[in-house]
Amino acid sequence: MVTADQKDGSPPVAAAAGWAIRGALPVDAEAIALVHADSWRRTYRGMMSDTYLDGDVVSERLSVWRQRMTAPRGDQRVWIASTASDLLGFICVFADEDPRRGVYVENLHVRHDAQGSGLGTALLQTAAAWTNAEQPRKGLWLWVMEANHSARRFYQRLGGVETDRTMLGDPAGGSAPNLRCCWPDVQPILDKDHPGELRPGCHPQPSEGMGGHVRGN
Ligand SMILES: CC(C)(COP(=O)(O)OP(=O)(O)OC[C@H]1O[C@@H](n2cnc3c(N)ncnc32)[C@H](O)[C@@H]1OP(=O)(O)O)[C@@H](O)C(=O)NCCC(=O)NCCS
Repeated sequence: MVTADQKDGSPPVAAAAGWAIRGALPVDAEAIALVHADSWRRTYRGMMSDTYLDGDVVSERLSVWRQRMTAPRGDQRVWIASTASDLLGFICVFADEDPRRGVYVENLHVRHDAQGSGLGTALLQTAAAWTNAEQPRKGLWLWVMEANHSARRFYQRLGGVETDRTMLGDPAGGSAPNLRCCWPDVQPILDKDHPGELRPGCHPQPSEGMGGHVRGN
């Protein structure tokens, strides 16, 4: 369970064996972009164009994250899950994207070798706790690709309800069916227990630097 007193850059709101969650700082932009690009390559194969995923996704994500972390929208909040040396996951929300529906989750990604350890749940709980504290009585919502079955199951286990389907464009210039997943009340997210420890066999490696090769599939 996480508490709601998080402000960007403040002490961690959730901590478990080996990792903790805190507000992202400008210095985190590069590590977030690398995790994001790698996650897209692994998760969206077959959902986005191969040419795009095999191309320079890292540069594109770096430019997005440098912009977001140096000149953020006023309604943007980003939290990261990390060990002392490694960024393992992140969540980015925009509070004012669609005020009728609540806080919009733009991105949620956990590094492939840390998945299944409760980090995704803890990151969503951090956003839910912030929503309760800062936007009382508002919900959460997001778009998930129809073909992303494991993410859809993850959201459904946390009480998310798929309300509508539409074709959405992607940065690769294509489009794909997406489902809107909504939590009119974030309490089911906050009520969910998560393991809180990196699962056996998860041995996160140091993050790769700017010149490093980001693994594809
Ligand atoms: C979807 C995602 C954010 C979930 O984060 P996560 O840290 O893996 O999820 P958690 O560990 O908190 O919980 C996931 C659930 O699936 C299980 N699970 C997920 N991945 C698992 C794995 N690799 N091994 C074992 N169990 C796994 C967990 O046991 C848990 O089940 P439960 O809720 O019944 O206990 C993460 O898998 C991810 O980044 N996926 C790729 C990117 C993506 O699709 N993002 C969403 C875009 S809309």
